[in-house]
Amino acid sequence: MKTRLGVNIDHVATLRNARGEGHPDIAKAANEVIKNGADLITIHVREDQRHIKKSDAIFLKKKIKKPINLEMAPTIEMLNFALKLKPKYVCIVPEKRKEITTEGGLNLNQRNLKKIINKLKSKGIEVSLFINPKTNDVKRSFNLGSNAIEIHTGSFASAFKNRNKNKIKTEFDKIKNCQVACNKTTMKFNVGHGLTYESATYLKKLNNINEFNIGHFIVGESLFVGFSKVVKKFKRILKN
Ligand code: PXP
Repeated sequence: MKTRLGVNIDHVATLRNARGEGHPDIAKAANEVIKNGADLITIHVREDQRHIKKSDAIFLKKKIKKPINLEMAPTIEMLNFALKLKPKYVCIVPEKRKEITTEGGLNLNQRNLKKIINKLKSKGIEVSLFINPKTNDVKRSFNLGSNAIEIHTGSFASAFKNRNKNKIKTEFDKIKNCQVACNKTTMKFNVGHGLTYESATYLKKLNNINEFNIGHFIVGESLFVGFSKVVKKFKRILKN
């Protein structure tokens, strides 16, 4: 199975918004990462639209040839927006207004989750749930009718930043167990959050990961060497 790379370009918009004008252009960034091998473009339209805005998502859909993976909170407002945008993929993520980034996986007890998943699927949108690396959450995602799961790799990635070998192994094993549980279902297995060259290389020891979604590191590293080098390097890492 070919492992796909989703590039999250939210932080190109963060930089653009710092000046409130149009530069750097997000469609130019999306097309640049696509030219260098990105398989899809991931964007998180937050409730406060602090980086990618709804208008950006509509603009991007017209300007790029690869699919959009829309990350969104499970709210009726975002559901209506997704039904209007009609991206190929939606990843449902938790959202707290004051958080700097998505701090953990979804709480699967939320009442309207199943309704939102069904509605998106009825319009031909493939749905993924962003969950913590817990096998029980994998099973519950399947029971909720999700087409895929994305494992929140934040703790695994932090263990690399802290050079904590034991923690790396413990967190890796959790993700591995989730993949085993996922393989017993029809769901696709995706990963994302906080990944770097080093942590993605380690995670690639797990065969048959469907998709990696990587954002902050790609945008940050590209300031030094450009999107072309960074995206190509990740593509080499993910190559089977
Ligand atoms: N996947 C999901 C579901 C996310 O919410 C995020 C962060 O927005 C990412 C992947 C990318 O994380 P990072 O920017 O840390 O690479």
